Amino acid sequence: MKTPMIVRIPFHRAPVGEEEALAVCEVIRSGWLTMGPKTFEFEKEFAKYVGARDAIAVSTGTAALHLSLEAAGVCAGDEVLLPTTTFTATAEAVTYLGARPVLVDIDPVTMNLDPEDAARRITPRTEAIIPVHLGGQPCDMDELHALAKAHHLRVIEDAAHALPSAYRGKRIGQISEFTCFSFYATKTLTTGEGGMVTTENPSAAERIRLMRLHGIERDAWKRYRGDGSWRYEVLEAGFKYNLTDFQAAIGLVQLAKCDAMRQARQKIAERYTNAFSPLEELLLPEIRSDRSTSWHLYVLRLRPDRLRVDRDVFIRALEVRGVSCSVHFIPLHLQPYYQRAYGYRAGDFPNAEQQYDSCLSLPIFPGMTDQEIERVIQAVQETTVESRIVRQNAAVSPID
Ligand SMILES: Cc1ncc(COP(=O)(O)O)c(C=O)c1O
Repeated sequence: MKTPMIVRIPFHRAPVGEEEALAVCEVIRSGWLTMGPKTFEFEKEFAKYVGARDAIAVSTGTAALHLSLEAAGVCAGDEVLLPTTTFTATAEAVTYLGARPVLVDIDPVTMNLDPEDAARRITPRTEAIIPVHLGGQPCDMDELHALAKAHHLRVIEDAAHALPSAYRGKRIGQISEFTCFSFYATKTLTTGEGGMVTTENPSAAERIRLMRLHGIERDAWKRYRGDGSWRYEVLEAGFKYNLTDFQAAIGLVQLAKCDAMRQARQKIAERYTNAFSPLEELLLPEIRSDRSTSWHLYVLRLRPDRLRVDRDVFIRALEVRGVSCSVHFIPLHLQPYYQRAYGYRAGDFPNAEQQYDSCLSLPIFPGMTDQEIERVIQAVQETTVESRIVRQNAAVSPID
């Protein structure tokens, strides 16, 4: 007998369509492709949306981190605190400046950097801290700001997952001196590749604008227009980190539907949570009452004491049922580079390892159909039931 073909549910499908295509066409027809009027409009609208003083568009989230660290004055020999549970870009940007990423364990509930563990790792060389809002849930920002104030640390938020998220009534993007967003293809707002720095520090904004385009003076882009001059001055050895106008045009369309897309993800999250709460084998995301998440990720955790299978086998069982998952993240201290360069070892960060061993991220994106959501729910329920440890009833006689 032939087995029926299962249509696979992808982990992510970018919510882009006709509107974005038209916006790109408009830019192409305008004849101005690289950074120009659309990029500046996108920056203005983005700053308004998150409530930031300044927004500077850049080529990637990694570039946003690099430019923020540079503007904060982080340099060779400095130490920068960041969670071990993050994407390598967070730490990699620190290494660009010759500084040292100092890894920190996570809070077992939020899965974000633990402020108490961060405090223990501060040395006279610590210059900055990068809180990462994993999956969209904001970090304990008040505690982290208090720590930063006491030790004169600069705060650079990695908000690659946190558009739009809020902490104690404030949107992420207006809370710290620097906040870095990513518009990579899987993110909650995408321009294919792209990023944004928001900052409350006007001189840092000026510096980032300078450094994103080769360190040449601010309005250098105008020199290619009819009204610009061919003459320019190189003030610093900068970087080539600008966004393009056709990416910005996509960004503007996406920004206008950012709230609606969050709403759609929240509805999916609620359906997952309602369906999975009766399953004692699973730990569901817990969002603290003083903050809201973008629902970039829906991270499920398995209880090893209740299941006969590990996370990898669980993911494979979901794959067989046509559901693609991901894992966020393999802790940096388990990666060969960070072990080789900084001497980290397995066992260094117990909370992060426990989280990693048990977690998986389910598909959650605005264009998911009802049928797709139901299939994910059914696949998780079936996999849990078939993998659960059935407890022997103590009252039952061994003969039964
Ligand atoms: C937590 C985190 N930080 C930074 C980045 C880097 O962003 P980009 O890919 O836009 O450089 C990512 C991208 O996946 C990320 O997940």
